[in-house]
Amino acid sequence: MPSCPPGCKPIDAGPPHAATVVARTQESPTIFTLQLRLDDAAAQAGYRFAPGQFNMLYLFGVGEVPISIMSDPDAREGIGHTIRAVGRVTRGLAALQPGDKLGLRGPFGRGWPLQEMGGRDVVLVTGGLGCAPAVSVIHYVLRRRERFGKLVVIQGVKHADDLIWREQYDRWAKLPDTQVLVAADEGAALWPWHVGRVTELFDLAQFNPARAVAMMCGPEGMMRVTAEQLLARRLPESSLYLSMERNMQCAVGRCGHCQFGGAFVCRDGPVFNWGDVKALLPHRGF
Ligand SMILES: Cc1cc2nc3c(=O)[nH]c(=O)nc-3n(C[C@H](O)[C@H](O)[C@H](O)COP(=O)(O)OP(=O)(O)OC[C@H]3O[C@@H](n4cnc5c(N)ncnc54)[C@H](O)[C@@H]3O)c2cc1C
Ligand code: FES
Repeated sequence: MPSCPPGCKPIDAGPPHAATVVARTQESPTIFTLQLRLDDAAAQAGYRFAPGQFNMLYLFGVGEVPISIMSDPDAREGIGHTIRAVGRVTRGLAALQPGDKLGLRGPFGRGWPLQEMGGRDVVLVTGGLGCAPAVSVIHYVLRRRERFGKLVVIQGVKHADDLIWREQYDRWAKLPDTQVLVAADEGAALWPWHVGRVTELFDLAQFNPARAVAMMCGPEGMMRVTAEQLLARRLPESSLYLSMERNMQCAVGRCGHCQFGGAFVCRDGPVFNWGDVKALLPHRGF
């Protein structure tokens, strides 16, 4: 499975490189986006990533966490990360402001096999902040629109207030051959989309199962149900991909923290084919 575009390679697996916050956006009460720039101008100019890859962000004196890269892989202005503040490191990252420094290693892992998806309908199914690693796929496809079939973006959130990037969803929904379907388990006043489970949207999705490829990111339970439903709609197992999350330390397959059966999520993932991981997913502890 290919992971990197030509020229893409991790900066290295050694110490983090200094980076500066160039912009910060508060997306929701707990979610924020940091646009980063490597302080070394040559490293920034040479930085390339593939949709689905992640960086290790190091908050000095606190710790390091894996975060997906959500920016446009063809744009060079900054390296974008959308983060939910859940614990020690991510809460500390939330306090950073433009001009503040942090460390960055990456990009790491295998992204979505987009180079093998030419001519196919692309179906993205994301739950919660799973939309972060999917956004770079949307940018990638929109820049190469003629190479792909339909683009179907299906996003689920727990509560209507959790939906970030509303304007982007509205904008994408107006594009030709692009369908955007959003669901919230719990709606709110003036919520224009579906109220219910994200999987209830599949009957509305317009794609050809024989030539579609589906990419899923979000909670594992949601991805399992999504896979079952897409397989029932005759999408072959080989056309189903998911992005996995595990605790990480080294990010280069050396420490074993992210072991998942015979694979390391940092090195062999985070994107896997459904067939390669489906047997382990239902077991707690893997
Ligand atoms: C490949 C990969 C890509 C990722 N991409 C992103 C991303 O784009 N954006 C993002 O926000 N996160 C992302 N994560 C998850 C992120 O790495 C973790 O949220 C982070 O490591 C938490 O570190 P912490 O020190 O802030 O929390 P900790 O102090 O380690 O945890 C504090 C508490 O939060 C809980 N917790 C930890 N992680 C999560 C989580 N993901 N969701 C809910 N509760 C959690 C823990 O169980 C614990 O109770 C990604 C993870 C992986 C493996
Ligand atoms: S994080 Fe060390 S092996 Fe994956």
